[in-house]
Amino acid sequence: MKRPTTKEPTISNINEIINTLKESNRFHEIETGVERKYIIETYGCQMNEHDSEKLEGFLTQMGYNKTDSRESSDLIIFNTCCVRENAELKVYGKLGALKHLKKKHEDLIIAVCGCMMQQDHVVKYIQKTYPHVDLIFGTHNLHNFPYLLEKTLNHKEAIVDVWSQEGEIIEGLPVNRRYGIKSFVNIMYGCNNFCSYCIVPYTRGRERSREVKDVLEEIEDLVSNGSKEVMLLGQNVNSYGNTLVNDVDFSDLLEQVVKIPGIERIRFMTSHPKDLSDKLIDTMATHKKICNHIHLPLQAGSNKVLKEMNRKYTQEDYLTIVRKIREKIPGVAITTDIIIGFPNETQEDFEETLTIARLAEFDSAFTFLYSIREGTPAATKIGQVPEEDKKTRFQTLKKLIDQIAYENNQKYLDQEISVLVEGTSKKNDKILTGRTETSKTVNFPGDEKIIGEIVTVKITAAKTYSFDGIIV
Ligand code: 5AD
Ligand code: SF4
Repeated sequence: MKRPTTKEPTISNINEIINTLKESNRFHEIETGVERKYIIETYGCQMNEHDSEKLEGFLTQMGYNKTDSRESSDLIIFNTCCVRENAELKVYGKLGALKHLKKKHEDLIIAVCGCMMQQDHVVKYIQKTYPHVDLIFGTHNLHNFPYLLEKTLNHKEAIVDVWSQEGEIIEGLPVNRRYGIKSFVNIMYGCNNFCSYCIVPYTRGRERSREVKDVLEEIEDLVSNGSKEVMLLGQNVNSYGNTLVNDVDFSDLLEQVVKIPGIERIRFMTSHPKDLSDKLIDTMATHKKICNHIHLPLQAGSNKVLKEMNRKYTQEDYLTIVRKIREKIPGVAITTDIIIGFPNETQEDFEETLTIARLAEFDSAFTFLYSIREGTPAATKIGQVPEEDKKTRFQTLKKLIDQIAYENNQKYLDQEISVLVEGTSKKNDKILTGRTETSKTVNFPGDEKIIGEIVTVKITAAKTYSFDGIIV
């Protein structure tokens, strides 16, 4: 595995490479009458979704067109996730299935990137098992993608370039953004928390924050191009600023973001409970534009399990934070992540998770079966929970979360609430779909012309995870 070196391409020669590839794609289209196309399949979290947007930006500049079909692609990219094993298995399955496509279309380029590639054993396995993969790169050198692609196109052998360590944050890349109604903005990268089950600190590197000025400039640009809502992204936004020279924290950043003219909604993800400050709760309560929704991963309800997970808070600490948030921010939605079957989790430990879920009254929860991640401290713990027990507990928790979510949603019935209209429903294009500030989906009849607007909708039916309504 390589470390970043000064010989890596600079922004100016990346621009040259982009132009060279653009020319080549243009000639190909003139000669054959067919444009070059790409497809990116993304796994995992919003961070990965946003990385794929950056790749799309590069590809658009290089003159590639997007397609939904692997068969008609000249370039297939898998942006992978390794947080749990099932995401990895899906990628392996799909890579296997591509062998026949490569035989039919020998100029096809197959690239794999993202978190899975930051693990040596995965890269070796892919090289050995899927020799039809042409390009492998990681999370730390995504900004060099045009250079890597050009190298791949000019070489017969596969290119593997994975940096084992993060480099400096690269700003000002020639990324052609997708200016949507809602936009992701990275405010920081990496994680220093080393929760004992989690692979992220090993794949995304140490925590580093972007400068306030760079974040604000990006948001200003997005808003001036039509974005109404931004989602500020970081593995733990509550430690934003720790790596900056200036004394600035996440609340200070939010105070600046709310001042940007034209911004309507600000969201963020994710908050580690151990670092959630009273100052942040006050900032959220003060500013209408900061959405009243917080995603606050609990992970487990038992203090014994929390300690073994290295989460650095207790169930009591967690409930105290929830109480404070609910007191200061009326109508707030609290969502969470919960892992079932961490090593040595007993039935009693699990029941404590149920109790905390009941007391916290979550609006929704992502629930996961614990998945062994090679290289993390929890992977080698004795006392792994049998799969059968994990599955039974999972079902019990899911039932409880669904029930709490349904009960919570009944409070919305007959209320008139503001909804950002995001698009039409997949099932019926006469029905629009949007989100409340609390991040709940609302479906209602309306004209496509109002997509992108914030409208008031009266809730006529409250289901477990969505509402029906009518515009008032
Ligand atoms: N097994 C199961 N779930 C995990 N998560 C992280 N690592 C694992 C693992 N090894 C979950 C956590 C985290 C979410 C993004 O993924 O709940 O908050
Ligand atoms: Fe993983 Fe914990 Fe960091 Fe979240 S805070 S990314 S769970 S190590």
